Amino acid sequence: MTRIKKAAVIGAGVMGAAIAGHLANAGIRTVLLDIVPKELTEKEKAKGLTLEDRVVRNRIAQTGKDRLFKEKPSPLFHKKVADLIETGNLEDDLHKLGEVDWVIEAIVENLNIKQSLFADVEKVWKPGIIVSSNTSGISIREMVAGRSEEFRSHFLGTHFFNPPRYMKLLEIIPTEATDPTLVSEMKAFAESVLGKGVVMAKDTPNFIANRIGVYGLQVTFQKMLEEGLGPDEVDTVTGRAMGRPKSATFRTLDLVGLDTFVHVSDNVRESVTDAEEKKAFEVPELLKEMVNKGWLGAKSGQGFFKRVKTEKGKEILVLDPQTKEYRPRKKLKAPSLEMSKRAKTVKEQLRALVYADDPAGRLAWYISKKVLLYSAARIPEIADDIVSVDRAMRWGFNWDLGPFEFWDAIGVEKSVARMKEEGETIPPLVEELLASGAKSFYEKSAEEDRVFYPGGKFTRVEEHPKVINLAKLKEQGKLIKGNKGASLIDIGDDVALLEFHSPKNAIATDIIQMINTAVKEVSDNYRGLVIGNQGSTFCVGANLMLILMEAQDQNWPELDLMVRQFQKTMGSLRYMDKPVVAAPFNMALGGGVEVSLPCDRIQASSELYMGLVETGVGLIPGGGGNKELLLRWMDGVDPKDRVALQPLVNHVFETIAMAKVSTSAMEARDYKFLRREDGITMNGDHLLYDAKQQVLALDAAGYRPPQPKKIPVVGETGYNTLRLGAYGMLQSGYISEHDYKIATKLAYVLAGGTVPEGTWVDEQYLLDIEREAFLSLAGEPKSQQRMMHMLTKNKPLRN
Ligand code: NAI
Repeated sequence: MTRIKKAAVIGAGVMGAAIAGHLANAGIRTVLLDIVPKELTEKEKAKGLTLEDRVVRNRIAQTGKDRLFKEKPSPLFHKKVADLIETGNLEDDLHKLGEVDWVIEAIVENLNIKQSLFADVEKVWKPGIIVSSNTSGISIREMVAGRSEEFRSHFLGTHFFNPPRYMKLLEIIPTEATDPTLVSEMKAFAESVLGKGVVMAKDTPNFIANRIGVYGLQVTFQKMLEEGLGPDEVDTVTGRAMGRPKSATFRTLDLVGLDTFVHVSDNVRESVTDAEEKKAFEVPELLKEMVNKGWLGAKSGQGFFKRVKTEKGKEILVLDPQTKEYRPRKKLKAPSLEMSKRAKTVKEQLRALVYADDPAGRLAWYISKKVLLYSAARIPEIADDIVSVDRAMRWGFNWDLGPFEFWDAIGVEKSVARMKEEGETIPPLVEELLASGAKSFYEKSAEEDRVFYPGGKFTRVEEHPKVINLAKLKEQGKLIKGNKGASLIDIGDDVALLEFHSPKNAIATDIIQMINTAVKEVSDNYRGLVIGNQGSTFCVGANLMLILMEAQDQNWPELDLMVRQFQKTMGSLRYMDKPVVAAPFNMALGGGVEVSLPCDRIQASSELYMGLVETGVGLIPGGGGNKELLLRWMDGVDPKDRVALQPLVNHVFETIAMAKVSTSAMEARDYKFLRREDGITMNGDHLLYDAKQQVLALDAAGYRPPQPKKIPVVGETGYNTLRLGAYGMLQSGYISEHDYKIATKLAYVLAGGTVPEGTWVDEQYLLDIEREAFLSLAGEPKSQQRMMHMLTKNKPLRN
């Protein structure tokens, strides 16, 4: 268990406020401090405030906190977590730093200012309080030069990436003076409580990710100028084609801010001694000019790209490096780009690109070559092992593969031979690897992954003990049963896991079959079941194509059977005699919600976008989702209290009719997709482990399945109330005729039909009317148009 219960963040700028927000997401009470303003704003003057008033003195920190509500995507899991953040200022509230467990500094990137701040912090500091800096690259040990030995033993770097809620990487940088137990404590806290992927870095300029990332951006920039290309053309190559984010090079720079980039680049240039390396971090004239003109990127409205209004509507223009004027964008076209797009594996994709003799291939080769050589040459300077470098680039820059994984993918021997031909110096690490006879940096087997260490030996890649790796378990023969859409896997301790692996994990007949198999198998031979997977998203719903095809063919008996089976299968999950825990993460939509709701528990990833979104495709939930959500809202309500029922039904109606989707697991609680007893895991890599623990705990506590329920419904009166509400929205033009039709069907289902108010109905009755409504909507031409639109355009149609 962590002892960090209370924290303080100093500096309420871009990073400080967002770090405070994320600490609050994790349930940590946080004091957010900044400097006292020197001047009053016009508004403050008008209110008659003075520089002595507390609201003025706290204004900078408060403004930082207020920004958290406005930023998109939201830094907060839920508005209410902001209550955990208390704002203040460094003069009146300095003593509060002595009352917390961890102080993190995120003020301006300036050594002298940071040094003098830590001198102040030490005055109120008490042994035991961890103090850290979020600096992007200033030396950690220099920041606390002059501080006592004891203070320095509690001091380290904790470098978050922007935005801290969403970026997985946290670099932890201890110094020689840092107490190793505090380092382990911080690592465990960051991983489990803050959900971060921690990489241990050394106290070298810009640490790991920014050192290599910025080098790569510089190399790309300089090559663009040399080749006379445009940022748009380069971005065609350096984005998805190379396994990097879509924002590629120049859109990334615009997002980071060109001034920040210059700052970070300068920091390395000033700190390193090697002449060639210094040159690599030299900021090109063009960039300096852009910064001088205030063309800083997204935050100033223009950078390498600029949004303009034209006759055609909004258009994005790009800066031509030669003319220094903005022009329409164009793409670099090359056969290698097409080939890499069609590749089936990452390996094929990268090889098709980097070894191609066309403009895209040559550019990709040059950039990759430089980054790979640079990364290898930085070991052991910036990190002792290559795993840390690979993870830092994946988690901090969203690359699909870290440099050494990339190198393995394109083939070490083949690429090194070409590098030598081109006169490059090969770093000792790589020479050592090849001399040992090994062909790649990683050696993967079913049992374990091993990685090459400087010095010539392969060592096991350490994973967090809470990581369950489904692919590895399958390689180890732990597959119990499986088909094209899903697999049942033994995850140890007599717990089985049902993994979906269809495209986007959409549910079709094969998955339904596999759920039924799982129910039987687990009932006979296991202690319980986890439903989860390690794809990019939990489940986007039922296979819409299948529904649309049957509906277009007017194959009603077939569609009826399909829906019946879905409902029945969800029922068997709910009533099976062993505990079932769903582990949704990222997107859990439609059918993805419907498989989660009947489970005994949900163990959710904190990043959870969950919603019954069927109305967007002209339908309503058909797999028991209406009934399950209704049951959740009714839970614990006195059924005799008729007045209490209607507002609850209204909530369910609103949630489904408006296809509300949570933006976090915490928000999913508001919609009652999650209940109080359901768990939330901050670190997505630990999700399946935590879900398994829930199964074991339920089993150990003497699990008994729930009994089918009878439910009092609002009936005809309630139906009319809901319909009237929807009619009002139709009248005011807020919804379309077809929305209204869907809403009335939904109202009918949620009201329990037109029975008298207060009638007790059973679950099967609710499922039957749900299925009827679903089928009748599937037959509507406008609903079919919605389905088609979603399938072809991947967004909802409003008709
Ligand atoms: P910022 O400029 O947005 O915020 C800095 C804050 O420091 C301001 O609120 C300012 O009022 C306060 N401040 C200024 N002088 C101060 C003083 N003498 N004492 C106390 N507070 C003072 O800066 P940002 O971007 O939030 O950066 C903060 C730190 O985080 C820097 O060390 C930066 O290198 C690092 N960082 C920044 C990242 C980014 O993407 N912006 C990413 C990772 C780290």
